[in-house]
Amino acid sequence: MKISILGGGPAGLYFSILIKKARPNYEVALYERNRADDTFGFGVVFSDQTLDIFRRYDPASHAAILANFAYWDDIEIHFKNEAIRVGGNGFCGCSRHTLLRLLQERARALGVVLHFEWEIDDLAVFAGSDLIVAADGINSRVRTQYAEHFQPATDLRPNKFVWLGSTRPFDAFTFFFRETEYGIFIAHCYQYEQGHSTWVIETDPKTWARAGLDRMDEAQSARFLEGVFVQELDGHSLITNRSLWRNFPMIRNARWVKDNIVLLGDAKATAHFSIGAGTKLAMEDAIALFEALKAHGDDVKAALSGFERDRREDVEKTQHAANVSLVWFEHLARFWNYDPIKFAFGLMTRSKSITYDNLAMRAPEFVRAVTRNFAREQEMSGLPIRGPDVPPMFQPFRLRQMVLDNRVVLSPMCMYSAEEGLPDDWHLVHLGARALGGAGLIFTEMTNVSPEARITHGCAGMYTDVQEAAWKRVVDFVHGHSGAKICMQLGHAGRKGATKLIWDGMDEPLEKGGWPLIAASAVPYYSHSQIPRAMTRADMDQVKDDFVRAARRAERAGFDMLELHCGHGYLLASFISPLTNRRDDEYGGSLENRLRYPLEIFAALRDAWPLDKPISVRISATDWKEGGLTGEESVEVARLFSQAGCDLIDVSTGQTVHDAEPVFGRMFQTPFSDKIRNEAGIATMAVGAITSADQINTILAAGRADLVAIGRGHLVDPSLTLRAAAWYGIDLSVPPQYALGYRAQLSLARRERQELADLRQRARPLGGQMADK
Ligand SMILES: Cc1cc2nc3c(=O)[nH]c(=O)nc-3n(C[C@H](O)[C@H](O)[C@H](O)COP(=O)(O)OP(=O)(O)OC[C@H]3O[C@@H](n4cnc5c(N)ncnc54)[C@H](O)[C@@H]3O)c2cc1C
Ligand SMILES: Cc1cc2nc3c(=O)[nH]c(=O)nc-3n(C[C@H](O)[C@H](O)[C@H](O)COP(=O)(O)O)c2cc1C
Repeated sequence: MKISILGGGPAGLYFSILIKKARPNYEVALYERNRADDTFGFGVVFSDQTLDIFRRYDPASHAAILANFAYWDDIEIHFKNEAIRVGGNGFCGCSRHTLLRLLQERARALGVVLHFEWEIDDLAVFAGSDLIVAADGINSRVRTQYAEHFQPATDLRPNKFVWLGSTRPFDAFTFFFRETEYGIFIAHCYQYEQGHSTWVIETDPKTWARAGLDRMDEAQSARFLEGVFVQELDGHSLITNRSLWRNFPMIRNARWVKDNIVLLGDAKATAHFSIGAGTKLAMEDAIALFEALKAHGDDVKAALSGFERDRREDVEKTQHAANVSLVWFEHLARFWNYDPIKFAFGLMTRSKSITYDNLAMRAPEFVRAVTRNFAREQEMSGLPIRGPDVPPMFQPFRLRQMVLDNRVVLSPMCMYSAEEGLPDDWHLVHLGARALGGAGLIFTEMTNVSPEARITHGCAGMYTDVQEAAWKRVVDFVHGHSGAKICMQLGHAGRKGATKLIWDGMDEPLEKGGWPLIAASAVPYYSHSQIPRAMTRADMDQVKDDFVRAARRAERAGFDMLELHCGHGYLLASFISPLTNRRDDEYGGSLENRLRYPLEIFAALRDAWPLDKPISVRISATDWKEGGLTGEESVEVARLFSQAGCDLIDVSTGQTVHDAEPVFGRMFQTPFSDKIRNEAGIATMAVGAITSADQINTILAAGRADLVAIGRGHLVDPSLTLRAAAWYGIDLSVPPQYALGYRAQLSLARRERQELADLRQRARPLGGQMADK
C-alpha cells in the first residue's frame, strides 16, 4: 500500500509513525513545505490522560516526549492582586519544536520517507497513492480545493489573540488577568522547557482597537504587551515568532473523506487553545485513522468511512467543550466584579468537565474556600445560611418574604392527568412525594387560566371553585408535611392548545373535541395544526381577567409564589418571539412592542398578588431558530420583567416553533441563565439536562444561577435532594416518618465518600511536583 501524507505537523507525523510501525511493508511518504527544524509557536500541552494514550500506541515516542517535558500539577489564577492556586490538574508542556523533532526522528527510524521544503500545490502528484492524508493544518489547501465536497464552515471568533514566548519560569499553568485603561487583557502562560514559557495573550476586539494594536507591527505589539504585563513578566521580555494577532477560527467540515483523501487534524476540525486540545485532537485523529485502517485491512474506502463514523462524535464533543471554554473568555466582563475565589471557580469549571465534586477530590482546600465564600456572600447580602461549610445547593434562598430551605426545585411538568382541569390524587401524590423528597421549591405544572387556555384535555386549571379546593389540598399537604414551598405556574396554551396528550402525540392537534385557539398572530404551529385567531383587544382583556382571577384563587389556596409562563411558544411567548408575532399594531414589531402584552399581564398579576410573595417569569431565552429570539434579546426581556417587579427569571429555551434546531447537551440551557443573571443583574433559575447534585453545586458556586430546577430527573427520583443531602452529610430536616432511612443513608454515604477518596488518591497517575526534565 502506498500512503502519501501532506503536512508534517503532529497529525501527519504521528499517523506516519503508527502506520509504518504496524505495517513496515507499506510505502509511507510525508511532504512538508517547511524545513525540518522550522516551526511557528512555542509550547504545546498534554494532560496525563492524553500522555497515557500515547504510551499505549507508541511507547518509544511517548518515552522521548516524557523525557523532554515539563510537568506541573497546579493551575494558578491571578486576578485583582490575588493568586489562587488549584492543585490536582496534571499537565505536561513541551516545545512544539521539540515535539516535532522527536516525532520526525521516530518516523525516520521506522522508515517513513520525510520530504521537507516540499510544497504540494496539486494532489495530482499523489495520483498513484492508495491513501492521501491531508494533514495540512488550519489553512488546509486540500480542504479549500474540495470545499464543495467537504463543506467546511468557519466560525471566526471575535476575540484577538497572539502567541508569544518568554524566559520567565512558571511552576504552574498560569492565567493572568490585567485591567488597563483600554480594557482587559488575559495571558495564558505555561513553561514548556527549562527557561522557556508560552504566553498566549488574548483580548476583546474593542480593547484591542482602543489600545491601537491594529496599527502596531509584531515588535511594537510585543513591547506594548510587555508594558501591560510588566509586573507578571518579572523582568523578562516577550519573544516573538510570527507573533501576529489572529481571530480563532472554529472549523468544522460536513464531510472528512473524499474518495481516498482524508482530512486529519486542524485541516478537519479545530479546538480553541484555552483547552489546549489542538495537538491532542490532531494526534488522537492519527490514532483513530490508524485504528480504522487496522480494522479494515487494505480496504481504504471502508477504513475511511469507518474513521469518519467512529471519530466524529469525540471530535464534536471536544469542539463543544472548547467552544464553551472560549465563550467564557469572550464574556469576561460579566464576571469582572466577582470575588477572586468565585472568579477562579468559574474559570476552572467553564467547560463542564471540571466540577464542584471532582475539584473537591483534587483540590479540597480550594473547594472549601469556594463553599465558604458562597456562604459569606450570602450572609453579607442578608440571607440566612445553614453553615459556612454547607455546599451551595443546601444554602437557603429568599425571594421577597419567601425563604427556601435549599436551592433545588421541582420544575413545572404537565402530568396530563386532570379531568376537566381538576387536579386529583395523582397531583397530590406526585407533588407531595417531591416535597417529602427534600426539594426546596415545588412547581405545579402549567396550570391554565380558563378551559380554552389548556394545552390538552388532561391539563390542570385554576378557573373553578372545585379546582381551587383541590389545589388547596395539595398546598396544605406540602406545607403540613414538608419544609418545601410551592409555586403555581399559570399559563395559556395559545396556538399550542387543543392538542393530544403527550403520549398520544406531542403538540399534535386533536382530531375531535378541540376548541378555538387564539395567539399573537394567526400562525399555526404545524401546517396541519388549527389556525389560531389573532387576538383582539377584547380577547386581551378577557385573558388578562382570567389570569388575575386564577392568581386570586392561587392566593386563597395558599400558594407561596406564582410563575407566569412566557416561554415554550404558548400564548404569551407567541407575542415575544418574532417568529410567531406578525402583528403590525403596538403589540408587534420591536421587542418593546412584542413585550407590551406579556408585561401588561405581569403587571396585573403583580397588582393582584400579595406584595410579600414573589412572582417569577419563565422565558424561552432563545428560539434556536434563525430569525427568532436570541440570547442577547433575552437579557432585555429579563430586564423589562425585572423592572416590572419580577423576582426571578426561570430560564428555559425553545419550543417556539416545531423546526427549531436546539443544541442539546449537559446543562445546555445554563449559559443563558448565566448570561441573564450576570448581564441583567436579576436572580435566575437554571434548568435543562441538569442531572446531579454535583452539577447543581457547580452552577450555583460559579454564579450561573440562584436556583436549579430538575424536571425529568425528579420523575424517576422524587428524593434526589434527600439523597444528595445525605451524600454531602447535611443535617436536613426530614419528616419524622423518614428519619431512620435518612440516617442510614447518611452513614452509607460517609463510607462511600471515604472509599472514593481513597480510590482517587491511589489512582493518581503522576507525582504532584513540577519538574523540569
Ligand atoms: C502558535 C501556535 C501555538 C499552539 N500551541 C498549542 C498548544 O499549546 N497546545 C495545543 O494542543 N495546540 C496548540 N496549537 C494548536 C496546534 O498547533 C494545532 O492544533 C496542531 O498543530 C494541529 O496539528 P496538525 O498536524 O493538524 O496541523 P499543523 O501542526 O498546522 O501542521 C500542518 C503542516 O502542514 C504543512 N503544510 C500545509 N500546507 C502544505 C502544503 N501545501 N505543502 C506542504 N506542507 C504543507 C504546514 O507547514 C504544517 O507544518 C497551537 C497553534 C499555534 C498556531
Ligand atoms: C413531561 C413534561 C412536562 C412538562 N411540562 C411543563 C410545564 O407544564 N411547564 C413548563 O414550563 N415546562 C414544562 N416542562 C419542561 C420542564 O419544566 C423542564 O424545563 C424540562 O423538562 C427540562 O428540564 P429537565 O432536563 O430537568 O427535564 C415539561 C417537561 C416534561 C418532560
